Amino acid sequence: MALLITACEKTTQPNMINTPTDWHTYAQPNQARVTHLNLDINVDFDTKTIEGVATWTIEKTDTAKAIILDAKDLSIQKILINDSVETSYTLGEEKPWLGSPLTVNLTPDAKTISIYYKTSPTAAALQWLSPQQTADKKHPFLFTQSQAILARTWIPCQDSPGIRYTYDAKVKVPAELLALMSADNPIAKTTDGIYNFKQGKPIPSYLMALSVGDVVFRPIGPKTGVYAEPSMIEKSAYEFADMQKMLEAAEAIYGEYRWGRYDVIVLPPSFPFGGMENPVLTFATPTIIAGDRSLVSLVAHELAHSWSGNLVTNATWDDFWLNEGFTVYFERRIMEAIEGKPYADMLSLLGFQDVTETVESIGANHPDTHLKLNLKDRDPDEGLTDIAYEKGFALLRTIEDAVGRERFDAFINKYFNEFAFKTIHTEQFIQYINKELIGSDKALSAKINLDAWIYGPGIPDNVVAFSSDRFASVDKTLESWNAGTKPAALETKNWSTHEWMHFIRKLPQDLGTDKMKELDTAFGFTKSGNSEIACAWYTLSVKNQYKTAYPAIEQFLTSVGRRKFLTPIYRELIKTESGKQFANAVYKKARPNYHYVATQTMDELLK
Ligand code: BES
Ligand code: ZN
Repeated sequence: MALLITACEKTTQPNMINTPTDWHTYAQPNQARVTHLNLDINVDFDTKTIEGVATWTIEKTDTAKAIILDAKDLSIQKILINDSVETSYTLGEEKPWLGSPLTVNLTPDAKTISIYYKTSPTAAALQWLSPQQTADKKHPFLFTQSQAILARTWIPCQDSPGIRYTYDAKVKVPAELLALMSADNPIAKTTDGIYNFKQGKPIPSYLMALSVGDVVFRPIGPKTGVYAEPSMIEKSAYEFADMQKMLEAAEAIYGEYRWGRYDVIVLPPSFPFGGMENPVLTFATPTIIAGDRSLVSLVAHELAHSWSGNLVTNATWDDFWLNEGFTVYFERRIMEAIEGKPYADMLSLLGFQDVTETVESIGANHPDTHLKLNLKDRDPDEGLTDIAYEKGFALLRTIEDAVGRERFDAFINKYFNEFAFKTIHTEQFIQYINKELIGSDKALSAKINLDAWIYGPGIPDNVVAFSSDRFASVDKTLESWNAGTKPAALETKNWSTHEWMHFIRKLPQDLGTDKMKELDTAFGFTKSGNSEIACAWYTLSVKNQYKTAYPAIEQFLTSVGRRKFLTPIYRELIKTESGKQFANAVYKKARPNYHYVATQTMDELLK
């Protein structure tokens, strides 16, 4: 009967958009969902486990007999209802990447469920580092990475971006370490190693985050600051000096920052991503500490997520472009505001080069090049590529161009307010932009052609033309080099990291070891302390079997765990027999330092 009613409702409301399915959760929020978490955990470095109680406040229909959560590699000890009565539960069949449904039987009066649990030492979200794997080499370190669907490996939760809740946490750690979360944070250690946190804004589970290590805090501005290991704090504070300015620039474009403070923690080098937009506290790789502030657009990116992603959240991972495309667009607007248009133009062009290459490698007609993805029966981590970022960005720039910046900004402002602390799926977005921006303007609608961008492959023809004067001048330098000018005589004064990246990318890919040597001698690429330049150069070095760079490549691959850098270098290495041997030998050494997210990808690549 219930089924029948649902079916009827759907057919009698043809205009209603169906709730999209999140393939990556077992939760059935229409039956029962969580609204608040009270977490009480102990972090144990000896056993590499987190143990404690997750008490969820729940909401349910009158008829719901159970609530379903996601769990992976967790051991459950017992579950109480309303803090008093033990209840029965089942952990269903385990599926790859999804884990198991944790079905908790409820009583009609159930308001909370308290899950007593323990994580596994191999929990995918957790990386336990030995002192040797940190910058200061004195204390162990733990950090989490919950996006996309790894939160379920350290907290039993409804692990869907479409389900939000507030949280409090009490976390016990060794007294010599500082605990930090995606919440209001302490700025110094407590004497007993006990920390209390509160996140009063509703967030989805992929933004749950915890870091435990010997870190110190340094303020940047009144609402901004940085955490890092003692030996990194000075450099980090220097690098991020513009954070407060970024925050103010962002607010001037898209309205109030809603999360209180904005801080960044610089993690040890094995952090598998560049950055992760954990609310209040962005997690960042140390590979952006270049010494010259040239890679800080990454901070602008994670900050921008405070609006696109954390405030207005993709409902499922199929809608990932709504998080990342808007964030890249906003990131470049922030960089334009603080560094000027020529700077932002360089970022856009590098991004466009990236996505052009990605489309080529995925296949110009492949559905994974659509903005709207279909990740059913797949590990979301696999389908989340550059497409969401740079094709998403290209669409938004194309729309901006078609309607003018003023109208576009007014639209985005309204969009962020309308959907604040809510989730949105692609179809809802299309409906909203058609109503609020495109309206009945048929010509405009045809000019933008949302359908081709969102449900079609590759980069549609109506994409705006990206250009950069600063890169045009690099192109001239390249021409002059091609015509025989010696490297030392080339016009490279005042080049930023971005000009160098463009230069390296545009070099003939088969230039040979003599030319490589000549360039290297003049510009010192092999010993570059800049991770982006190094990665681009090392990839080219492998292409050309430029052996001089190999010791540095080995050093890089064993000390850095950022997947974006590992992938292109290993991928290039395995193209030849000798390269394969080198790659495998290095990987054997390096693998213990990599995070699960990185080993997943590299195992697959090197198998
Ligand atoms: N949210 C992403 C990181 C992410 C995406 C983690 C998907 C897990 C699954 C973050 O905002 C991001 O995009 N980081 C980029 C840097 C950015 C400047 C493009 C990265 O890590 O390279
Ligand atoms: Zn992002």
